[in-house]
Amino acid sequence: MKEIVIATQNKHKTDEYKHMLEPLGYTVYTLDEFPDIGEIIEDGETFEANAYIKAKTLQDVLHKDIIADDSGLMVEALDGAPGVYSARYAGEDVTYEDNNRLLMNNMSGIRNRQAAFITVICLLEQGCEPRYFTGILHGNIATESRGDNGFGYDPIFCISDGRHLAELTMEEKNAISHRALATQQLIMHLRKST
Ligand code: IMP
Repeated sequence: MKEIVIATQNKHKTDEYKHMLEPLGYTVYTLDEFPDIGEIIEDGETFEANAYIKAKTLQDVLHKDIIADDSGLMVEALDGAPGVYSARYAGEDVTYEDNNRLLMNNMSGIRNRQAAFITVICLLEQGCEPRYFTGILHGNIATESRGDNGFGYDPIFCISDGRHLAELTMEEKNAISHRALATQQLIMHLRKST
C-alpha cells in the first residue's frame, strides 16, 4: 500500500483528493495528521515554485511522497495580477469580499476583462524529480457580483455561458474547474504508474 501526504488542511481539498486516490490503493494523509509542522511560507514567484516549496518542505521532514498545489487568478489587463498573491490581494488577513472589491475597483473602466484561474499540482515522489500538473479555466471578470456558491473570486468570475462561477453547483464547478483539470492529469499519471 503506497502512502501519500496532501499538503493541505482544507477539508474540501482533502475529501476531493481522498476520493480520487484511495481507489488507486493509496493511504492518504493530510497535514491534520502532522500537527507539529508549522506554517510553510509560500514566497515563490510562480504557482510552480510555491507548490514545490510546500512539497519539498514536507518531504524533508516526513520522508514520504507528497502532493502540494497552488492556485490563483490571473487577469490579463492587470499583467497577471493577483496571481500568486490571490489569497492576499487586498492585504494580510483580508476577506474574499475585500479581495473582490479591490479587483473590481482596479478593473473599473477596463474593457479587456479576460482572466483565468490556474492550479499547479506538484507531485514529489521520494527519489524522483518533481512532476507538475496544470489546470486552467478561462473566463472574464464580471462587472457585478453574482451567486452564493463556491469561494474566493467565484462571484465575479464569468464563464463562457455567461454564468458566474458562484452560480454553479459544486458538481458543475468540479466538472470544469482549474483544480479538477489539474487533478485529472495527476490521476492519469498515477494510474499509469501504479
Ligand atoms: P489556493 O492556493 O488553492 O489556496 O488558492 C489561493 C487563492 O486563489 C484563494 O484564496 C482564492 O482567493 C483564489 N482561488 C483559488 N481557486 C479558486 C476558485 O476555484 N475560486 C475562486 N477563487 C479561487
